[in-house]
Amino acid sequence: MLQECTEWLYDYSSDKITAKTEGIEMAMDRRPENMERITTPELADAFIEEQVAAVQEQVGRRKVLLALSGGVDSSVVAALLIRAIGQQLVCVHVNHGLLRKGEPEQVIEVFRNQMKANLIYVDASDRFLDKLAGVAEPEQKRMIIGGEFIEVFAEEARKLDGIECLAQGTIWPDILESEKGIKAHHNAGGLPEDMKFELVEPVKILFKDEVRLVGKQLGLPDSMVYRQPFPGPGLGVRCPGAITRDRLEAVRESDAILREEFAKNGLEGKVWQYFTVVPDFKSTGIKDGKRAFEWSVIIRAVNTTDAMTATVENVPYDLMCHLADRITHEVPGVNRVLYDFTPKPTGTIEFE
Ligand code: XMP
Repeated sequence: MLQECTEWLYDYSSDKITAKTEGIEMAMDRRPENMERITTPELADAFIEEQVAAVQEQVGRRKVLLALSGGVDSSVVAALLIRAIGQQLVCVHVNHGLLRKGEPEQVIEVFRNQMKANLIYVDASDRFLDKLAGVAEPEQKRMIIGGEFIEVFAEEARKLDGIECLAQGTIWPDILESEKGIKAHHNAGGLPEDMKFELVEPVKILFKDEVRLVGKQLGLPDSMVYRQPFPGPGLGVRCPGAITRDRLEAVRESDAILREEFAKNGLEGKVWQYFTVVPDFKSTGIKDGKRAFEWSVIIRAVNTTDAMTATVENVPYDLMCHLADRITHEVPGVNRVLYDFTPKPTGTIEFE
């Protein structure tokens, strides 16, 4: 959950993994300069086969713990490790109450029901929302979410016996970015001092498009593998100011309508990131012939290649009108829909 939750929890560690390339086993903690880009199902299958063997060799009969957010990277790592070590993998899915509609259900369906994973589901929504009550400062909100996530995850880990390894969805751009000092990533160091794990990072040398292809070959659904980026602090940053449960629900419901309509209208997979925001102010409107003092939903839809700059999607006018109609009629407490026309810069992609 931290690009996915896990991504800003865990700091990159330089532990080595082993992998075979062209049949030669070698210690690999960097992507070889001449490594062929994985662009076909055949190359993805070959990578999977190599990594399954490498993980089996690294892990042996030990147990591995994974924070499974449902994001692309941790999901692909989970699928790969299920194939490699089956029930020796313990996945922990923490619902911090800030996930999108249907997300925890999808994680349970795909991993527990379909892939038969050893999955621990922790609904910690109340705990997170209680800690966040009344907190309006954006960075403080992020810190509470990140800190509480580590606590919940560590609590679950302590309940388990004999775990020696921690799997992470580190990918190659994470490593490059942390080396350049752009992002502090992947900190197993975020866990309490006494919790020391050997890291298992089987997609560490892959670019995102390669991770997606590997995930597809491992049988993950497209809705998981090709989903848009989602921030670790989740809907928390789309509910600016102090989060309240009713306004959070308005974010979740309007986001679900936006995703449904973008999918129906061919924009899913075309627009890089799209979501709704519900700021903490109300305005006067009319509903059922009566004055309605309610929230506004802001729609944001942007395109980018690296998230450093972004342009605004030209959403068809008719679709915008339809979205406004659905959101104002279906989401309780909302009487207006606005569109954010701001590119990055001067805006950021998220609102808070
Ligand atoms: P901004 O808002 O900085 O977003 O233009 C750039 C990309 O990063 C995501 N984002 C986050 N991801 N934790 C995350 O894991 C965060 O606190 C966070 N803030 C922004 C955002 O969704 C966009 O894709």
